[in-house]
Amino acid sequence: MSLNGPVYRLVRLLLLVGVFNAASAVIKGNTDHQHYQQQVPGEHFSKDFYRQDFKNGLSSTYTRFKPVTDCMFITADPGSFIYSSKTDSDEVCGIYFLAGPDQKIEINFLTFDVPCEHRGLISVVDGWELNGEVFPSEMDHRLPLKQRISEFCGKNIGVKRSFTSSQNAAVIRYRIPKPGKGFTLFARFLKNPRPCNVLAASLSEPYTLRNYGRRVNCTYVVLYPGTVQVIALGVGVSNFLGSSRTAETGTLRKCDETSPQDRVVIGGSDGLDTSEVRVVDSICGIDSKPDYHEVVKYGVTSVRLISSGFFENSVTVEVLPLKNELLDANLSI
Ligand SMILES: *[C@@H]1O[C@H](CO)[C@@H](O)[C@H](O)[C@H]1NC(C)=O
Repeated sequence: MSLNGPVYRLVRLLLLVGVFNAASAVIKGNTDHQHYQQQVPGEHFSKDFYRQDFKNGLSSTYTRFKPVTDCMFITADPGSFIYSSKTDSDEVCGIYFLAGPDQKIEINFLTFDVPCEHRGLISVVDGWELNGEVFPSEMDHRLPLKQRISEFCGKNIGVKRSFTSSQNAAVIRYRIPKPGKGFTLFARFLKNPRPCNVLAASLSEPYTLRNYGRRVNCTYVVLYPGTVQVIALGVGVSNFLGSSRTAETGTLRKCDETSPQDRVVIGGSDGLDTSEVRVVDSICGIDSKPDYHEVVKYGVTSVRLISSGFFENSVTVEVLPLKNELLDANLSI
């Protein structure tokens, strides 16, 4: 099992900034709990994440600019952010926004000074990008990749534009090799009434993927290896027009051989691009009490709901982290 590389680094960062807020609940009851708690080197990362009052006090959240410090800056909070370049390095960095599963992200630049003549550049990405791989993968996003990435530079050029992501993940990538130059922005989390692709923001919280009757493929992605547990299943199963789908069929396998092929594909990959997924299983059926577990030993675990549009599909899953991996993640920082 390869557990190095950018995604794994990302998981460790997510854990440290407290994005996976259920982490302690998972580890609770484990004798390693104390150990786990002590290993988090909080002072190394943005302190804002540890301050509950900061999250709850609306006024402070919205009036104070949070400085973007780390090159890979992950935030699960909306609010105002400021970045000012300290160096002439042309390293590309990013502000990674991660909202709740049923939210999307709106970004407005308040000030913007990114000189093109110094090779400054901003790109706003509808999704997360890491090592050239994007989530959601091109095949699962309603827009072609080109339309999901806006690149620009200049003075005040970004200020009049508003960007809204299609899912709960978005990134601002920036390269500003000129000290003193930079930008401020305001990020709001908006309600997403029909979420499709979702990047998990907490550890082992059940999530329900739905197609809302649409012909669409939606992927739920978790950035750790884990055991996929199916809690409820109502996907596909050939029916004659008008017949009801109330009868339980149990959890069926090999659903890619049935028609019209509505199914849940469980798999894993080493990067964010879930089109490169190694399929572990493919299931469908009506099962209100499934007894289904499947271990996915890749850095990224994905559950993909494939819908023809002929059914109202839904599947509720929970991905339990392989415990030792997460503890190792903290120990090896
Ligand atoms: C969903 O995925 C299936 C299998 O990968 C593909 O055949 C189908 O065209 C996809 N549907 C949409 C709407 O992209």
